[in-house]
Amino acid sequence: MTTNALITGWGMYAPSHVMTNDDLAKLVDTNDEWIVTRTGIRERRIAADDETTTMLSVNAARDALAVAGLDPAELDLVIVATCTPDYPLPATSVLVASELGATRAAGFDLQAACSGFLYGLASGTSFVRSGMYRNVLVIGVEILSRFLDWSDRSTCVLFGDGAGAVLLQASDQPGGMLGFDLFSDGGGCEAIIVPAGGSINPASHATVDARQHTIKMLGSEVYKYATRQMGESALAALRSAGMTVDDVDQFVFHQANLRIIHSVQKQFGIPDEKTFVNIEKYGNTSAASVPMALVEAIASDRVKPGDRILMVAFGAGYTAGGAVIEWTADPSRALLAPGSQTRLGEPQRTLADAAV
Ligand code: UT7
Repeated sequence: MTTNALITGWGMYAPSHVMTNDDLAKLVDTNDEWIVTRTGIRERRIAADDETTTMLSVNAARDALAVAGLDPAELDLVIVATCTPDYPLPATSVLVASELGATRAAGFDLQAACSGFLYGLASGTSFVRSGMYRNVLVIGVEILSRFLDWSDRSTCVLFGDGAGAVLLQASDQPGGMLGFDLFSDGGGCEAIIVPAGGSINPASHATVDARQHTIKMLGSEVYKYATRQMGESALAALRSAGMTVDDVDQFVFHQANLRIIHSVQKQFGIPDEKTFVNIEKYGNTSAASVPMALVEAIASDRVKPGDRILMVAFGAGYTAGGAVIEWTADPSRALLAPGSQTRLGEPQRTLADAAV
């Protein structure tokens, strides 16, 4: 009998602090009109000083577990996809598992930048399908605000913080991953990079002074590559599922730039009602972007059992990923599960101290 990995729980967390485009215009030479027209972003969430990547993850994960009704002690594996871990060492996943009370779970972090959640979903699915594990938590999380140069207008306006989580459970029922494609091209290394803090450029006074621990990006180069690769990854995932664009009920793309999403929509003739977008509220949250968009698509009645969802992401590396899943869970479980909600801290519209 085939074992499938079904998504039985889902959750997200966005820090309560809202930073608007007008807030950013007080920090750098930018304005709301430029940011909205070039990116679609209106505001983003910024983690408070005392919030950690583990805390964001745990908030999203607790909701996912509550929706599924699973005791954390039953978890076999916690995968955390992030490029902004709590520490270079140890792995954030291990801290998340401890905090959740996942006493017998294994844990590892996965670094594939903005594509990390889809790499995690493919990995988690493989662990379940192989029969090795039955309950796997996959989290995409970032606190990018701590890795931004707040004097560089070409990057600081783009990113935000957040977390999204799904629980994969073994089942002999049909559904779950129908096809996927993972991609990498190290030729893009210089295009999106945090140049220091690794073994090539260990931290020093000079690297700190030169702000080399923050994200540097060749925006227009990345834009061109992303626009092409998002389409290619979408097609590759569909081929792997034996499906075409017309077979998809909902598209959940990485929320990096609304123009990139529109360009892929145009390429394939995908209507707006099949394309979930929440970039205006959160900006680019890297590995958290796809799961946060998935959770909000479910919360906004875009998804019902039997629907086919195509998720596509692109990010630093370069990396990219596409996955087609057949949705099986009752979306209203999120409302019924005790303690569960789509966790959105009450928005606080003041300039983030953490970011200045
Ligand atoms: O998630 C990982 C993948 N990342 C992405 O997919 C990001 C892909 N890239 C992009 O989304 C876009 O390239 C950006 C949004 C980053 C930039 O948009 P663009 O249309 O490619 O603008 P540009 O970089 O070509 O810059 C155009 C102009 C420049 O001025 P000049 O040289 O024409 O005078 C920039 O200096 O816009 C200027 N500019 C800004 N102006 C106001 C750059 N950033 C800003 C800003 N506010 N924040």
